[in-house]
Amino acid sequence: MTDLNTLESDVLAQVAGAADLQALDAVRVAALGKTGSISGLLKTLGAMSPDERKERGAAINALRDRVQSAITEKKAALEAAELDARLARETLDLTLPGPYRRKGSVHPTMQTMDEIVSIFAEMGFAVAEGPDIEDDFHNFTALNFPEKHPAREMHDTFFFNRKEDGERMLLRTHTSPVQVRTMVSEKPPIRIIAPGRTYRVDNDATHTPVFHQVEGLVIDKGIHMGHLKWTLETFLARFFETDAVTTQFRPHHFPFTEPSAEMDVQCDRSGGEIKIGQGTSWLEILGCGMVHPNVLRACGIDPDEYQGFAFGVGVDRLGMLKYGMPDLRDMWSSDSRWLAHYGFSGFAAPNPASGLS
Ligand code: DAH
Repeated sequence: MTDLNTLESDVLAQVAGAADLQALDAVRVAALGKTGSISGLLKTLGAMSPDERKERGAAINALRDRVQSAITEKKAALEAAELDARLARETLDLTLPGPYRRKGSVHPTMQTMDEIVSIFAEMGFAVAEGPDIEDDFHNFTALNFPEKHPAREMHDTFFFNRKEDGERMLLRTHTSPVQVRTMVSEKPPIRIIAPGRTYRVDNDATHTPVFHQVEGLVIDKGIHMGHLKWTLETFLARFFETDAVTTQFRPHHFPFTEPSAEMDVQCDRSGGEIKIGQGTSWLEILGCGMVHPNVLRACGIDPDEYQGFAFGVGVDRLGMLKYGMPDLRDMWSSDSRWLAHYGFSGFAAPNPASGLS
């Protein structure tokens, strides 16, 4: 068996001495390859007596396994060393200024959000916020979505795994739960807008899984649809910076408002571009209505004493319309050329006095 011991220490020394992956592979082929030294030994077994073959065979196989595992171990060590060397070679100091020195800019969605907030702030609305991770009560139940109602399905909700107590949290599908949170924690009169991120399982040219809404809510005595109409028309005229905005209410259904409507704005679609304030087409831009008595009750407000209106606007969509961006998905592409083209200066915060856009 001394021949086997010599061969083993020889091969193991070559494995240990291999300077790189290529050299190691050459050692492997020379020992374990088809015509390698250890494979050659296995071929001699055929000529041996059964007893001899049993003993020699086991010894050669054990030798082959030890050499194979030494090679595997060495390979991992060489690969790790190579990665370390590469990381050291390609070290990049991300705090250094980049070669292009492109100025940062405000994303059009955030600009649009700021514009909406500034218009409503001037009208006396306060900004309210709520969590992105909501519970079923605030996102659905308190908003008068009956259990198992198909409207829940229509929201294509991202659900979390059930907690131990069986409750299932979710990513809010709209900003309407902030209405509930506000009515529960504040006494009327209430006049708020709630800007924020919303989430639905949806992805195409006009839908992204994350999008933005601004919710509006007014609760007081004697509030009616006329207040809603004036508020929205005034907002749209300021947002599109033209007095020529013409709108229409179209009857609709939302569980949390009664009556409910969608508001369309008149526009011109000829020539592939959408122009607000002219033309004969209609474009749907928001949902609204009078807060349903069930919602008021769920939030501890007496519907015989107080009434209110609410609305929900898609921010990304409004931004696309105002600034002529054709595909919603570009908003998330992080393409610096797109951002440089559509972005806004961080030094020019929108406000109604100095102009919005
Ligand atoms: N939450 C609705 C949605 O995401 C939008 C909406 C419609 C909000 C009507 C409202 C409303 O407050 O009154 O589709």
